[in-house]
Amino acid sequence: AGAAVPEAAIEVTQQGPTALVELNRPKALNALSTQVMHELVDAVMQLDAEPSVRAIIITGRGKAFAAGADIREMAGLDQAQAEQQQLFARWQELSTGRKGWTPLIAAVNGIALGGGAELAMLCDVIIASTAASFGLPEVTLGVIPGIGGTQRLPRLVGRARAMDAMLTARRISAEEALSWGLVSRLVQPEQLLPEAQAIADKLASFSPGAVARLLQASHAADNMPLDAALLEERRLFYSCFGTADQREGMGAFLEKRQPVFTKN
Ligand code: CAA
Repeated sequence: AGAAVPEAAIEVTQQGPTALVELNRPKALNALSTQVMHELVDAVMQLDAEPSVRAIIITGRGKAFAAGADIREMAGLDQAQAEQQQLFARWQELSTGRKGWTPLIAAVNGIALGGGAELAMLCDVIIASTAASFGLPEVTLGVIPGIGGTQRLPRLVGRARAMDAMLTARRISAEEALSWGLVSRLVQPEQLLPEAQAIADKLASFSPGAVARLLQASHAADNMPLDAALLEERRLFYSCFGTADQREGMGAFLEKRQPVFTKN
């Protein structure tokens, strides 16, 4: 008999210009195992390379978004193994590995703890249902966040809130996450995917090149000193004028008609 093929840990469905990527280990509260990491990163890279895909929604099946990295898998590792495996290194590809800069929308349906919260923070837009909650409880396990949490949370919500959250390991409710600006919209659970879809449809109607440049500029904002980032914004802005979509977008405005943007 051949080796057992592990069940897919994620589920990908495409509907028009939007791809929906669902974490699908509900019994383990969608814990982010190495298998999940490889499947999810591979799927997103593949979808990103597909010109027909204009937005990617990431959500969790069942009651959790993701309860963090897989503790069962990590528990027995020693330092040499963690280093040798480059544990969690691939997650960063979601942010900077997208050659097409296809926007990622996190639709946080339930608990997003540890790596789950960090996955959401890797996305370009984060919306949440009222059933969602967030937290970086790694310190309770004798470790620290390892998928960007110590760096992204303070940048997203400010140092005071981030240190409070990480040092107390406390749970941040969906309402608090909204008031912190960690998420941009809060909706009833049944409205979560329709809302994410509406965002995806909206941005899919715009120039893909302009959307990609926005994401690149946003990336510069996260990574560069202000002077350099402003120059990068201007470089990207000028490069828009090398595209048919700039002429179409502005021409359509002046002609009082809807623009028809290129597909790639
Ligand atoms: N890894 C592996 N398995 C997990 C898990 C995780 N992060 N979170 C939950 N599970 C599993 C549980 O072990 C349990 O499995 P069994 O049924 O086989 O026992 C199943 O999912 C259901 O979980 P609970 O019975 O605990 O469910 P609950 O509703 O009582 O509690 C919870 C929910 C409060 C989220 C609790 O599961 C919990 O505290 N989970 C761990 C959260 C956490 O510490 N996350 C951080 C992980 S470390 C990290 O992410 C490092 C990093 O920075 C990358």
